[in-house]
Amino acid sequence: MNTRSFSFRLLAWYTCLLTCIFVLLCALLYLDLSRFLEHNVEQSQVRRAHQITDTFLATIGKTGPSYVAGQAKALYEPEISDRFVRITQANGPIIYASGMPKDGSFDPAEVPAFPPVSSRESFHRVKLSNGKTLVIAALNYHGPGKTSYVVESGALLDPAELNHLVLQLLIGLPVAVVIITVGGYILVRRALTPVERITRAAEQITQHNLSERLPVSRTGDELERLSISLNRMIARLDDAFQNSKRFVADASHELRTPLTILRGELETLIENARLDPEVRERATSMFEETVRLTRIVEQLFTLSRLDAGEAQAEWSRFDLAGLAKTTAEQMSLLAEDKNITIACDAGQAVVVEGDAARLKQVVVNLLDNAIKYTQSGGAVQLHVRRANGHAILEVEDNGVGIPSEALPHVFERFYRVDQIRSGEFEGAGLGLSIAKSICSAHGAEIEATSVPRKGSCFRVTLPLSKN
Ligand SMILES: Nc1ncnc2c1ncn2[C@@H]1O[C@H](COP(=O)(O)OP(=O)(O)OP(=O)(O)O)[C@@H](O)[C@H]1O
Ligand SMILES: [Mg+2]
Repeated sequence: MNTRSFSFRLLAWYTCLLTCIFVLLCALLYLDLSRFLEHNVEQSQVRRAHQITDTFLATIGKTGPSYVAGQAKALYEPEISDRFVRITQANGPIIYASGMPKDGSFDPAEVPAFPPVSSRESFHRVKLSNGKTLVIAALNYHGPGKTSYVVESGALLDPAELNHLVLQLLIGLPVAVVIITVGGYILVRRALTPVERITRAAEQITQHNLSERLPVSRTGDELERLSISLNRMIARLDDAFQNSKRFVADASHELRTPLTILRGELETLIENARLDPEVRERATSMFEETVRLTRIVEQLFTLSRLDAGEAQAEWSRFDLAGLAKTTAEQMSLLAEDKNITIACDAGQAVVVEGDAARLKQVVVNLLDNAIKYTQSGGAVQLHVRRANGHAILEVEDNGVGIPSEALPHVFERFYRVDQIRSGEFEGAGLGLSIAKSICSAHGAEIEATSVPRKGSCFRVTLPLSKN
């Protein structure tokens, strides 16, 4: 998982924020419920104190304290209902005090005598030694004559409901966090889908299809602006690319005629018998450079035409094996000059479709390299066969080989392995890029494998003719 990614950080922030909000809400809920429960207990104790006052304490003048005590015990049975009841005469004796509740949940002896308060009702909390809390409501009652009484009614705070809530929150919170995270992940993925679509489309755009554009979703947001900006950038690139291609095409085209004239003039000059030997030598050197220059211009011109989509001018069905055999025979003269043998293994007809002249150029370029980069006495092998519905053409040599770090670049324009070493061999570094352009236009793959000082193998994989 990429923790630095935008989606991960967005999801992490979103989950943290929502979890914090949930925890806060749970805490507020807990506090609110505990306050509500306490308030409930207080109110029920106040009601009980009022009942005691109204039902029999009001008549204490006539009935006497022991009657009141007896009534309190008989009617409210605080010990049985686990309650606390105490009736005290102000500045006088305790008229009635309930005993130990039957469940032994608290000891009434732990409840202190509270100092007198001026208000009619007051509330007290008694923290008991067993950790529980007793809520007591005290009611001041002014009886007959000037005698006042305090009626205290108490009950334990029951934490069961709060505990239940805490349990539910403890289970609910992790579940909520999981749902938030999964939901957030789905939302983030959906939100980023258009970005992925744009990325995929952008990856498909290469120098060959710069006229294509990215999808623009008309949402009026940043994504729409991003895709429009990218499309404008691609349009500018397209323009620049077209301009540079046009420049190369025009320049190479314009250079061909003066170069041909120059070559012809130099040839005539060299053939002049009366020419001073030193001038002839210089003219010959100039002639050789002009030939080299003409070759480069021709190659550039070929490339510019291939770029313009003229790789399949003459589309036909033909036997690749036959084409390879004839080409190898034609090139064998060049190989013989270097004492190199060319063995051609292309017995079976392998019919493909394409521009035969262009594909012949591929074979020529590969054989030319194999001969050029193989020492005298070496061997070059040409194989043509069928495999998995494809035509395979391989040119193998036992020459100088290509270092592994240079191998991925050999099909680039003007790339030559190791400039110092390349000085021994003539060339501009365009032969393989021409071969690659032709292959791409035919839906073919061209790849190279090589072991330095052992040899190289170039393989072209071309679709077989369907008919
Ligand atoms: N069979 C081979 N053996 C060793 N190195 C090779 C072979 N084929 C190509 N290379 C290396 O790849 C480079 C590019 O080859 P490419 O054919 O494009 O250019 P070039 O042969 O140098 O010049 P050009 O073909 O334009 O005359 C070469 O310079 C050479 O270093
Ligand atoms: Mg070459």
